[in-house]
Amino acid sequence: KIVTWSIEEASKGGYPHYMLKEIFEQPRALYETLIGLIEDPALEEAAELLVNARRVFVTGAGTSYHATLVFKHYITGMAGIVPIDFIASEHPEYMAAVSHEDVLIAVSQSGETTDTLQAVREAKKRGVKIIAVTNVIGSTLSRLADVTLYTRAGPEIGVAATKTFLTQVLTLQLLAARVACKLGVIDKSDFESIVEKLSSAREAARSAERLNPHIKALAVILSKAQSMFVLGRLLGAHLAREAALKIKEISYVHAEAYPAGESKHGPIALVEEGFPVIFVGTPGVEKKLYSNMEEMKARGAKVIVVGVDSYEDAPADYKVLVGSYDETLAPYAIMPPLQLLAYHMAVMLGYDPDKPRNLAKTVTVE
Ligand code: G6P
Repeated sequence: KIVTWSIEEASKGGYPHYMLKEIFEQPRALYETLIGLIEDPALEEAAELLVNARRVFVTGAGTSYHATLVFKHYITGMAGIVPIDFIASEHPEYMAAVSHEDVLIAVSQSGETTDTLQAVREAKKRGVKIIAVTNVIGSTLSRLADVTLYTRAGPEIGVAATKTFLTQVLTLQLLAARVACKLGVIDKSDFESIVEKLSSAREAARSAERLNPHIKALAVILSKAQSMFVLGRLLGAHLAREAALKIKEISYVHAEAYPAGESKHGPIALVEEGFPVIFVGTPGVEKKLYSNMEEMKARGAKVIVVGVDSYEDAPADYKVLVGSYDETLAPYAIMPPLQLLAYHMAVMLGYDPDKPRNLAKTVTVE
């Protein structure tokens, strides 16, 4: 299915900024991506490459790199394959280790990021098979790849990636499930129920609409901060990195992400009265995160949790509960409010979230 973008889709459609429009477009983008992928033979081809690979490498830049981390979480749990992830610009460190028996998954919204293309070209020279995940049909990355999986997010104009991130996550999650199925870890009916479940990603992403007023109120508090931490565990640690990137890149407020357990090994030294710490509440790590919250509170931190409903009893000063979701759907419900938080902070501080300073939508230089 070839998707073409209409002028209407590429305009602001009544929203003050593209970024806000793109955050609210996520339910549809996720649905289109899922429908497109289940009809696409490339999904099976990509899974075939992965099950036969000696090793799997994953790369990307910025938000796309964060999508590779989420993929690592899912495919490790679902299929027992632990991919080796690297930031695209760091590829030289890995090239001595790759061979023609390996597969590299390169994730890039634009398919034109120089660092990602360089990593792919270097890997290709060594015979590595390439799977591309991109939002742009006919992009350079898709032309270099052996197999391309398209996200069908539609055009993303805001410099900060939003809907393309979650569509990358969904694409990679579906790929992980396909691989698990081919390896016999799950059977066909399990695979089908995962697809069925992923069709609810669009409902999950509606959390943005529902929670918008709540998030705006939180942005009033957080836009006064100089610096903050964003913490999570496992899946939540990866989402925390993406949330911190969003906050930094458009509101220019310093936000640093850490796996929550690691915060004790240094970062906590910065925490003093009123220092904001946002916890990304993914399912399954409630107890451990609660004790991290208590540690932060004991040092005077302002503790915020953005998480699934099982965080209802969290010892937090401010709670944003996104609904009741398991690990499969949690990213789709949790990320949109965090993206909105960055958006509102930027607007409140007087910045244009669509055009952050010093940043480009696509980085075509080294
Ligand atoms: C730039 C953009 C980011 C994006 C990154 C990778 O830094 O500002 O939003 O995540 O490039 O872009 P890509 O097109 O390769 O996903």
